[in-house]
Amino acid sequence: MSPFHLTRTLPEDATEAALRADVLHGLTATPKTLPPKWFYDAHGSELFEKITELPEYYPTRAEREILVSRAADIAAATGARTLVELGSGSSDKTRHLLDAFGGLRLYVPVDVSESALTQAGRALVAERPGLSVHALIADFTARLELPDTPGPRLLVFLGGTIGNLLPAERAAFLSSVRALLAPGDALLLGTDLVKDEEVLVRAYDDAAGVTAAFNRNVLAVVNRELGADFEPGAFDHVALWDAEREWIEMRLRSRTEQTVKIPGLDLAVEFAAGEELRTEVSAKFRQEGVWAELAAAGLRPAHWWTDGEGRFALSLSVVP
Ligand code: SAH
Ligand code: AVI
Repeated sequence: MSPFHLTRTLPEDATEAALRADVLHGLTATPKTLPPKWFYDAHGSELFEKITELPEYYPTRAEREILVSRAADIAAATGARTLVELGSGSSDKTRHLLDAFGGLRLYVPVDVSESALTQAGRALVAERPGLSVHALIADFTARLELPDTPGPRLLVFLGGTIGNLLPAERAAFLSSVRALLAPGDALLLGTDLVKDEEVLVRAYDDAAGVTAAFNRNVLAVVNRELGADFEPGAFDHVALWDAEREWIEMRLRSRTEQTVKIPGLDLAVEFAAGEELRTEVSAKFRQEGVWAELAAAGLRPAHWWTDGEGRFALSLSVVP
């Protein structure tokens, strides 16, 4: 096997069927919603990378700071021989872990974005002789099957992407992660933390409008895949803090009353002027909550590390 190997766990028509089901369900519901995983076509993945460089978007820098200072501790605590990463994207911060795990030979990135997996995987094998990358195109909210790889395994889920799942989805996700792991394996989880509302809202409504373009990109995906006639410019980007649920919500607000046709679903969707479509939640956490959710899934939290400003946390849990 070549050092870079890409496997699609779901046939392309199953991915299209999943998009059709999500769009039909989400755009006929009240209020209207779409799941955030559909942001990430090649353009959406590029826009996300631009977001990570914005001055307002602190999570990537904060998490990198923790990884730089704790990677050696993580390597020593887990002794992992295989690194599996869910929602790996560009795998950029993962390099700090790969550096710390001197002898690690196998990296398994899992993502819905084929373009991100291909770009990241090819770059990693070119720069690291001795490392094999077995990339999986897969939905981590669906039943995941990992290749049979040497243990102990460290499963990492960075970026705070767990916050893009709703509470019930998070519980199901953590249980399925637990089921993938064996005693002696570990989970490294990145979670963004509750903080000042102004800082949070700015991170999701940047001055350059990159997050707005990322948000509207989901409409371009539905246009391309299902032949819809969304005019992305006819929707305003909205980011707001829900203080009760402690999450940021991204929405698209229809500027006018309009009807969008989706021939691929034989559907016409009416939007009232000012009506909002929820495209993402991004939950922010506290240590007690994260530890309770990990414990409820049968994992044992062992370490909690934050950046110097206490904005973001990495937790390491072991499988008892
Ligand atoms: N881990 C990287 C990227 C975070 S962006 C970082 O910390 O910067 C979120 C990533 O998760 C994207 O690459 C996106 O394609 C992927 N993703 C989102 N929903 C997914 C799902 N349901 N299954 C698999 N990958 C998903
Ligand atoms: C991937 N995920 C953790 C990002 C977040 O912050 O919730 C996605 C994002 N949405 C808007 N900006 C970034």
